[in-house]
Amino acid sequence: MWRVDDDFRSAALAAAELVADYLDGLPGRPVWEPMDPAARSALLDLELPEEGADFAALLKTVEERVMPHPMGNGSPRFFGWVNSAPQPAGVLAALAASAMNPSSAGGDHADVHLERAVVRWIAELVGFPHPAGGGLLTSGTSMATIVCLAAARNRAARTAGWDVRADGLAGMPPLVGYVTGEAHSCVRKAAELLGLGSRHLRVVPTDADGHLVVDGLRRAVAEDRAAGRLPFLVVASAGTVGTGAVDPFGPIADLAAAEGLWFHVDGAYGAFGVLDEEIRHRYAGMDRADSLALDPHKWLGVPVDCGCALVRDADELRGTFSLVPSYLRDDAAGDLGWFSEYGTEQTRPFRSLKVWASIAHRGRAGVARDVAHCAAQARRLGGWVDADADLELLAPVETSIVAFRYRPAGVDEETAQRINARLPVAVQLRGRVFVTGAVYRGTELLRACLLNASTTDADLRLLLDEVKSAGAELLAGARTSN
Ligand SMILES: Cc1ncc(COP(=O)(O)O)c(C=O)c1O
Repeated sequence: MWRVDDDFRSAALAAAELVADYLDGLPGRPVWEPMDPAARSALLDLELPEEGADFAALLKTVEERVMPHPMGNGSPRFFGWVNSAPQPAGVLAALAASAMNPSSAGGDHADVHLERAVVRWIAELVGFPHPAGGGLLTSGTSMATIVCLAAARNRAARTAGWDVRADGLAGMPPLVGYVTGEAHSCVRKAAELLGLGSRHLRVVPTDADGHLVVDGLRRAVAEDRAAGRLPFLVVASAGTVGTGAVDPFGPIADLAAAEGLWFHVDGAYGAFGVLDEEIRHRYAGMDRADSLALDPHKWLGVPVDCGCALVRDADELRGTFSLVPSYLRDDAAGDLGWFSEYGTEQTRPFRSLKVWASIAHRGRAGVARDVAHCAAQARRLGGWVDADADLELLAPVETSIVAFRYRPAGVDEETAQRINARLPVAVQLRGRVFVTGAVYRGTELLRACLLNASTTDADLRLLLDEVKSAGAELLAGARTSN
């Protein structure tokens, strides 16, 4: 049997140096570079080795072939999608967690109890009610959404006199859910997987800034009831992925209560924004939701993967997922049973240690400071965009996403669309900042998502300089090819 020996110890120390150097060097290197064909094929075409290699050789491969080619999200000048830099404390914790390597399905071991604590911490951070057992860590919000919407579906079916676990949905009147056009695609994916049918996920209107319009929701519910369908769910956003808009939770909660709808909030990206005093008011009523899905691996910087599902009623989760085959009976599990009774995974990774470390290293105050820093910088960036004659701010900055486009005077709409569609990649290829795009209400835009508390004002200035410079090049190219 293998035992820890000097080789392992020296390789572990070297790995720690390698990782520290890597993190240290991020601000000074290109944010992202395309991989050259040789570097790509050195990975793609790796041959299955017949004989093993020692730790030092493995580390050399990691150092030379893997770590020089990051996605870019560790850099303070990465503004793409919703991917954060890892909290260094979380990086350290991940090593210890993999050394212990438990299955956090349940039982009486440290990881299980720590998960109960950090789920409670997450609920406390965002001000969500937390009954014992009312949540668990998941791979991300896509999975947390499936977990929450499964509970919503089962409650609705039960209320209609249906046992969906035994009988499925066949024969039931359609259950109808309501989303806005700004909802993340994971909501539709969950609805499809749960057999609800994307056709029965109705898109309700939004106002000019992308918020759910409650009167539109009320009308849609009335129409569906009149047609014999069963309205059961409304999904609101605590920060849409496109522009960071936060839906009006209070009025949605009122309507959901009056109509008996399960009120779910997608807080994947933005729920932790509630920690910022300046924007906290936008989140009033989020605590009235039946469920909240959110991602510690986004704004909290917990190393991927880590999502979280929080629910108001723990019994709804357990009633949806609990199956305890005889080989898993465990008297030591306690009243709450196993985590695997509350979600889809049986063997579950030790995610809680990196969550604990990422929060405990900064404390609540430090986490709140980091969140507020990003939101304040986003507002500043939005102000600069607004004041720049070559740029156009396309949505109010409500959280830490700035949605804008390059549009100097005299550029017609069609050209602006063409240029802005190509602009994100043009900026990325220059390697100095990284930003991604989206289409919002038919308009091609760039969306800068700020999640890194070490991003400086100079980084933000560089972002705008790069966008304008790459935009001018594209525009010149468009003019010469016309
Ligand atoms: C608003 C929103 N919801 C859901 C998701 C999906 O989360 P995950 O990628 O963790 O599954 C994302 C991902 O960016 C998101 O921004």
